[in-house]
Amino acid sequence: MKKLIFVCLGNICRSPMAEFIMKDLVKQAGRVDSFQISSAAASSEALGCCMEPRAAAVLKRHGVPFTDRRAVKLTSAMIADADLVIGMDEGNLLAMKRLARQEDLPKLKLLNEYSGIPHPVADPWYTGDFETAFYEIQQGCKNLLQF
Ligand code: 4NP
Repeated sequence: MKKLIFVCLGNICRSPMAEFIMKDLVKQAGRVDSFQISSAAASSEALGCCMEPRAAAVLKRHGVPFTDRRAVKLTSAMIADADLVIGMDEGNLLAMKRLARQEDLPKLKLLNEYSGIPHPVADPWYTGDFETAFYEIQQGCKNLLQF
């Protein structure tokens, strides 16, 4: 069983998209029992909020199933319990490093390390471009599953 946590700033756009895209890929691959997949926030900005409607809309457009969920804050204990903690951008990675114990640092990754895209996933909360975020996250998740 591999435990994955996707992390972004607010946990209402990119990391829930990654959570549901990865869950869908794992389901399609018949490997649901091999993974535990969740997501969390690096900041406290949107704690308790549901997924941003434009993130839900892009998942729906691409046929990725999702459920109602609320933003939660990443903790040191969550990192300690995970196998991989995957941030969307450098700011997320910095927040993850601040929370992680020394021995957990090797678990901390950026999604674009897997996608091969030479830049982090820009925050659609600010860019408004949920389509590009979707494709970059999907590419990262596909490669992560192969990895
Ligand atoms: P996310 O986007 O990190 O992809 O979930 C954001 C969502 C909310 C906020 C910032 C970024 N916010 O400041 O509330």
